[in-house]
Amino acid sequence: MAMNRKLTRRQSLKLLWMGTAGATLAACAVPPAQAPAPTQPAAATSQPAEPAAAGGKLEIFSWWTSGGEVEALNALYDLYKKKYPGVEIVNAALAGGAGQGGNMKAVLKTRMLGGDPPDSFQVHLGQELIADHVVANRMEALDDLYKSEGWNEVFPKGIIDLASYQGHPYSVPVNIHRSNVLWYNTKHMQDVGVSKPPETWDEWFEYAEQLKAKGIPALAVAENEPGFSAHVFENVLVATLGPEKYLGLFNGSTKWDDEGVKQSAEILNKAMDYAEPDYTSVAWGDINDVISGGKASTMIMGDWTHGLLKAKGFTDYHWAPAPGTKGIFVALSDSFGLPKGAKDRDNVINWLKLCGSREGQDAFNPLKGSISARNDPDLSKYDDYLKEAIQDWKSNTIVGSIQHGAAAKQSFVNDYDNAINYLVTKRDVDGTMTKLLEAADLAEFKM
Ligand code: GAL
Repeated sequence: MAMNRKLTRRQSLKLLWMGTAGATLAACAVPPAQAPAPTQPAAATSQPAEPAAAGGKLEIFSWWTSGGEVEALNALYDLYKKKYPGVEIVNAALAGGAGQGGNMKAVLKTRMLGGDPPDSFQVHLGQELIADHVVANRMEALDDLYKSEGWNEVFPKGIIDLASYQGHPYSVPVNIHRSNVLWYNTKHMQDVGVSKPPETWDEWFEYAEQLKAKGIPALAVAENEPGFSAHVFENVLVATLGPEKYLGLFNGSTKWDDEGVKQSAEILNKAMDYAEPDYTSVAWGDINDVISGGKASTMIMGDWTHGLLKAKGFTDYHWAPAPGTKGIFVALSDSFGLPKGAKDRDNVINWLKLCGSREGQDAFNPLKGSISARNDPDLSKYDDYLKEAIQDWKSNTIVGSIQHGAAAKQSFVNDYDNAINYLVTKRDVDGTMTKLLEAADLAEFKM
């Protein structure tokens, strides 16, 4: 069982790098498919310590348009406006969970390639940042900012490594999110007379049967387009393979035709028998209505769900690690950077300073459902869920999320999403395995 694999904190941090884009990757080699050889990012540039940013604009591009996300982003905007009242913030957010639905990432790519970058944009630390933007030489290095703001001392080294390429940091983490959370309706649990959430997939299936007897679908899924069930699937993979083998999927040491991958596909396929039946017409942004409306009982989703459900005023829910992942923290981090050619560069530097500050992180994260990426959060601002997450972040084995950019570059994530969408719409495990293998072949995962 994954949770029995006891790894020390040191080992677990190393695993995070191995599976994602940290020191090891930077020091050794980025797999060829992810790193076109001739492009070399410029070395660190010198940002002015205190740019004179009195006016002009600041365009911030993200996919944060849902409850919780909006409030959290606005908290940062409010702080920014207080400090720089002359700057007009242009909120260029496009709807769509994890940046797929609203095509935020597609629009971003077009703008980046066309030399029209937004001033700053939401990007996940790890492969999404490094392989898709830094290696392509489209971001400024932020060494001076890290130094002037003291971030080398307050961000965990592992997080800095995930933000870095060839020893230079390229983005500023604004949070740490957890992917592997089971959100469950506490009233439903009482209704079927169950006292604790399922810890394993076997227990989840038992619970799902009990719910079925009461006419309640056990699983909420939003699959009007690929992406959501792919999030669920990464957590089944972690449960089935355990942290080391899971991370091996991204360095070639675990093959994508491993029996554990197939078992995971079978588990998700079976779980879909208990899904809320309209799932192919539900959008990622609307899934929380399914949960708060009591239409389905459990959901495996990241902890932005906490921010979203809180923003709705819904209270009949609680949380547990996704089945089979107790002791493991499937992590991702949203960040902002400085694209080369940003029109309002000075304003961006002030934005990045705010994003990385204690004040900024402690205003943003309690609303977002995430924890501070810094090691000095003001705990009085974080609620019970978040306090637990802070503890788990310190003690659990950490692995990077696939769906949210930490473990693999975007082109793989797209193919992976399509494969899992095929699974939950066609219910064909063998066909899904073929698609996953094809996706992995294209990605050329290597040590
Ligand atoms: C994730 C992102 C979160 C949250 C979520 C749902 O990829 O990191 O901040 O926005 O998507 O949209």
